[in-house]
Amino acid sequence: MNRIIQTNKNKLEIFQDDSQIWKYFRSEDEFLSELQIYRQNPCFAPKLIGFNKNDLILKLQFLEAKTILQIKPEFDKIAQLFSKLHSFKKRTICLCDVNPKNILFDLSEHKYYLIDFSDWQYQPKEYDLVRFLLFWASIYSSDIFQKNAEIFLNSYNIFLPIDYFLMQKFLQPAILEFDERRKKFNRKKAIVTAEPDKNRLWILEKINKQIR
Ligand SMILES: Nc1ncnc2c1ncn2[C@@H]1O[C@H](COP(=O)(O)OP(=O)(O)OP(=O)(O)O)[C@@H](O)[C@H]1O
Ligand SMILES: [Mg+2]
Repeated sequence: MNRIIQTNKNKLEIFQDDSQIWKYFRSEDEFLSELQIYRQNPCFAPKLIGFNKNDLILKLQFLEAKTILQIKPEFDKIAQLFSKLHSFKKRTICLCDVNPKNILFDLSEHKYYLIDFSDWQYQPKEYDLVRFLLFWASIYSSDIFQKNAEIFLNSYNIFLPIDYFLMQKFLQPAILEFDERRKKFNRKKAIVTAEPDKNRLWILEKINKQIR
């Protein structure tokens, strides 16, 4: 029996022996969006093995991986991963749905991958960066958040220079969007040690310090 993953939107089926995972889409638009990225064979994503346009199936390389929620993530390496996505095309592509479940760590290769390109958009890279920070701001206590956010931003900045004016521009709308989504999917605050308000304030102050 193949293992099935049922997400809110789609079904995925793992063909372990063939190292494949098939993603069965409900939405044609999302199927086409993802296909557009995977077809270009980017180094930051699992390989595209095949697809079926009629049945909206993407056949991808199956990674023996954990999501970065299940490990102690190395934020310098994840920063580098995002810089690869953001410099992939002349016009910057953002993942947009930077949920930690869409970032995998391959256990055999010790390599990070991005998946789930169904929401990708042409946006400045800072669009992803603020959203990524907001996820961890809602998960971590303030000391752990600050340490890792610093590592993430400093490492990213080595690969691509961060425009803090754009960080400022994107922060408030991203917070609104984040909270709306949380309400919509009725996600309760599960992590008692998390200090989201303090962490958001830290992001704001970090941005203000950089542009002063
Ligand atoms: N190539 C892959 N290798 C290994 N696991 C994968 C792969 N692609 C997806 N998965 C697993 O399946 C899960 C769901 O995949 P994906 O995010 O593409 O589906 P989705 O329907 O867009 O989900 P959601 O709406 O929750 O974001 C991932 O979090 C991951 O655990
Ligand atoms: Mg996903």
